[in-house]
Amino acid sequence: MLKIRARLAFTVISASTALAASLLTSPAVAEQALAEAGKRHYIRCSACHALSADGPSNLGPHLENIVGRLAGSLEDYEYTEEALINQSFHWDEATLEEWLRKPQEMLPDMCMPFFGLPRAEHREALIAYLKNPTP
Ligand code: HEC
Repeated sequence: MLKIRARLAFTVISASTALAASLLTSPAVAEQALAEAGKRHYIRCSACHALSADGPSNLGPHLENIVGRLAGSLEDYEYTEEALINQSFHWDEATLEEWLRKPQEMLPDMCMPFFGLPRAEHREALIAYLKNPTP
């Protein structure tokens, strides 16, 4: 009887360990953890950018739905850079990665006074946060 109980306990423990492990490794949870880390890097953008369309208007355009958004597409914002004015590309993970690495290198005439995030893992986390910004 004791043996059965011990085995049962073992089974329950290993099943819940497996469940916890699968939760930790599920892509949604990993993405959320990454976004949470990216929130810290967003502090560097928040002086100039609001995260929502009805946030305070600052020096830069708001960044609501920025991942997937057409570049330079806010009607009430006066962009200075040709590629933005001409709306010649979309902001996706690849273009944001390039932008956040060295904005001045990607669009030399733009006026964003920010010199980039040198570490790839910081850029990746920030993009995950921009995709799914949590308050
Ligand atoms: C000191 C102010 C400032 C900081 C800090 C800053 N930006 Fe900007 N950002 C701007 C300005 C100004 C523009 C408009 C550029 C132009 O029109 O040439 C801009 C433009 C952008 C755009 C283009 C938006 C569109 O509608 O096409 C993105 C994306 C962006 N910034 C992301 C970021 C992110 C992410 C950060 C933080 C890592 C950041 N910026 C930090 C001022 C800033």
